[in-house]
Amino acid sequence: MLRPVGHTPGMTNKILVIGRIGQIGHELLRSWWPAGFEVESIERPRLDLTRPQEARDIIAAARPRIVVNAAAYTAVDAAESDPDTAFAINRDGPAALAGACREIGAALVHFSTDYVYDGRKAGAYVETDPIAPLSVYGASKAEGDAAIAERLDRHVILRTSWVYSATGQNFVKTMLRLGAERDRLGIVDDQHGSPTAAADLAAATIAICTALAAGKDDGYGIFHFRGDGATTWYGFAREIFRQASAHGLKTPRLVDAIVTEAYPTPAVRPRNSALDCRKIARAYGIVAPPWQTSLAAVLDELIEAAARAEAV
Ligand SMILES: NC(=O)c1ccc[n+]([C@@H]2O[C@H](COP(=O)([O-])OP(=O)(O)OC[C@H]3O[C@@H](n4cnc5c(N)ncnc54)[C@H](OP(=O)(O)O)[C@@H]3O)[C@@H](O)[C@H]2O)c1
Repeated sequence: MLRPVGHTPGMTNKILVIGRIGQIGHELLRSWWPAGFEVESIERPRLDLTRPQEARDIIAAARPRIVVNAAAYTAVDAAESDPDTAFAINRDGPAALAGACREIGAALVHFSTDYVYDGRKAGAYVETDPIAPLSVYGASKAEGDAAIAERLDRHVILRTSWVYSATGQNFVKTMLRLGAERDRLGIVDDQHGSPTAAADLAAATIAICTALAAGKDDGYGIFHFRGDGATTWYGFAREIFRQASAHGLKTPRLVDAIVTEAYPTPAVRPRNSALDCRKIARAYGIVAPPWQTSLAAVLDELIEAAARAEAV
């Protein structure tokens, strides 16, 4: 019989979520976990990934069966002028977590990004494709993935793309804000990818933790996971405005499709972020909902929150 990660018979499955205030961390903490799980969370300043020894001590003291690292340096453009901090948080921090997990026999679930690829592939990326990040952020995440794999066999790295939720800063909230302010917007139409709801990532993570805790021993490694379907930022914006308009929200009169060169940013983004998700479907039976469906749920939540705030 397989021995589940760090298992002592009769004990609950303790999960330690790092970065609970971020988009994915927030969803992990408010999601329903199956019976038998005890979910603890920790965030800055109590656990700061720039202080690796502290992270190690906290994990050694908490002794979780699975650590879920939802913390990261995610400011893609700011990373270009602050590489030291990006690498400290995205490479050295996860390396310390992986080392600490190995010491106590825990597994580590970690999130990574489509930005580890250069986007020059014609089709969807599979997990074995070579990485070639175009940005400091992408390079720091790629080195974090490698640092985890070097130190810990029992790791699950979920590479995902274009994450959004009702909390935090993301494209959906930016579009709703700009859409309410402006009559005309230009949105990049030559970067292809898949919007991914943080809630869907949380659901996938819970399914993975459940399987690992039950003894699944052949589900480690790198997996792609993203909302089902593909679009461009322009297509994403159009759908946000279509759904927002159906809710009676103000949207721009005109949305123009523009090329990347017309919207220069400090960090270069891959033109093709398509991620093939067949591996996670085979290993865990996990398939994401269509991205438009998940977007509708997030818009509902944002609208309800706005209505509640107005009623106060
Ligand atoms: N957002 C995307 O579009 C996207 C796309 C692909 C992959 N991902 C990956 O998905 C994961 C989660 O992304 P997200 O969008 O949920 O991120 P997020 O909303 O930006 O949250 C990141 C969290 O990390 C915390 N953090 C930052 N620096 C830290 C440090 N030194 N020590 C401890 N915590 C720190 C932040 O805390 P504070 O609140 O204190 O700053 C925040 O709670 C990341 O691994 C990211 O690379 C994201």
